[in-house]
Amino acid sequence: MRVETTTGELAAVEADLHVLPQAEGDELPQALGEAAGAADVKHGFGKTTLLRPGGPERLLVVGLGKREELDDEKLRSAAAIATREAGRYDARSVAWSLADEALSAAAVIEGTILASYRFDRFRSRDEDDPAPVGVEVLTVALGDEADEAMSTAIRTAQVAAEAANRARELQNLPSNVLTPTALAERAEEIAAEHASVSVEVLGRSEIAAKKMGGLVAVSQGSAEDPRLIVLRYSGGGDGATLGLVGKAVTFDTGGISIKPSAGMQDMKMDMSGGAAVLEAVGAIAELGLGLDLIAVIPSTENMPSGTAIKPGDIITQYNGKTVEVNNTDAEGRLILADALAYCVELGAERVVDLATLTGAVLVALGSTYAALISNDDELAGEVAGAGERSGEIVWRLPLHAEYKKLTTGTVADLTNASDKRKAGTIYAGSFLEEFVDGKPWAHLDIAGTAWDIDREYAKRGPTGFGVRLLVDLASALAS
Ligand code: BES
Ligand code: MN
Ligand code: ZN
Repeated sequence: MRVETTTGELAAVEADLHVLPQAEGDELPQALGEAAGAADVKHGFGKTTLLRPGGPERLLVVGLGKREELDDEKLRSAAAIATREAGRYDARSVAWSLADEALSAAAVIEGTILASYRFDRFRSRDEDDPAPVGVEVLTVALGDEADEAMSTAIRTAQVAAEAANRARELQNLPSNVLTPTALAERAEEIAAEHASVSVEVLGRSEIAAKKMGGLVAVSQGSAEDPRLIVLRYSGGGDGATLGLVGKAVTFDTGGISIKPSAGMQDMKMDMSGGAAVLEAVGAIAELGLGLDLIAVIPSTENMPSGTAIKPGDIITQYNGKTVEVNNTDAEGRLILADALAYCVELGAERVVDLATLTGAVLVALGSTYAALISNDDELAGEVAGAGERSGEIVWRLPLHAEYKKLTTGTVADLTNASDKRKAGTIYAGSFLEEFVDGKPWAHLDIAGTAWDIDREYAKRGPTGFGVRLLVDLASALAS
């Protein structure tokens, strides 16, 4: 999507659809007072009214509800609602009136781009059923010329939202298309696009040679080759190197501890953390943010087979700790354990990981908040702040010695799952903490927020959760 800014009258902007946001109590501009339907304009949040002020052109009034309840997240939703309406009129160009400084242009851009995402590359089309055109140009008409901060915010919003849509495409791709190999190819593409990004990809034998026992164990049941993807971004600055780790299980059957078949098709999305990290690195490089990143993405299928890991098997992780694999469906923590330890060894001074790790987080927080678990208040605060600003909100859950005790193995150092079913999300976080060598670390369990969140800009299917949060975090940490 092309995004343009302008100043001055909305009516002067050439566009298929003009959008005028109106909070309760706002008065329509004088020139619109005469338009048919102007007296019936609805101001309630998300309500829309179409006016035809000068004949053919269309002006959509979007209600924002009570001004004191308005925030960026509501504006993202309002933009998504306007984008849907634009689709009804086949509008290719949309212009928003944002002269009101209280309304964030960045939020409108995010909502418009996110709401425009479609997954239809596998659908056959013909003349009777053409692909919808969608919004190709978005113009925001500002009250004043954008200053530097505003221009940065606008560009960041566009780059991050487009990267989120690319992550959504990866999430949507089925596991026979998006294999670990294909995901690694996407990483290579990102590195090829940016001189500041380099990539290294390890295959099955190299992963085994490095003694990454978790990734070896989870991948050994699958005919698909695993990949350990490492992306480095050199943006400079004087801050600490940030490590990013993302779980990328391209299909999670559960392995020998197999999942029920109902709904199993959704487990193609178990690579959502890895997709978010990958595309966030691309966006951060595109924006040229001033910090250094080391991203590590372990990618594999989790399959049952004659070569699969079995319940009770004992493995040795990359950092030397031993784990009883009592449940092969708790595979994410095994591959993340290696990736976290490797990321720290490569030089990450603080680490954020994203993973669709537990069904328990859906029980605890639904699809509203991702769970945040951290050993460091400062990093946790930075992550929570990025969550608030981006609308990808997180809620912190505690660590405690009693939870840690649950992860102790009976015959090995650790066990990957206990039969007690207590505090499943925290259990997984406590397990991961064993692999970060005491470095500041924040874990985001995105199993509830990566898919089917029922927001206006992402109703069903993938959300790209984490891309915008990570870009915001990197912006805040950059110097
Ligand atoms: N990939 C799943 C978690 C998940 C659940 C993601 C729902 C998205 C939606 C993960 O690998 C898993 O199977 N976790 C188990 C852990 C248990 C066996 C300790 C779970 O949550 O049931
Ligand atoms: Mn699993
Ligand atoms: Zn999984």
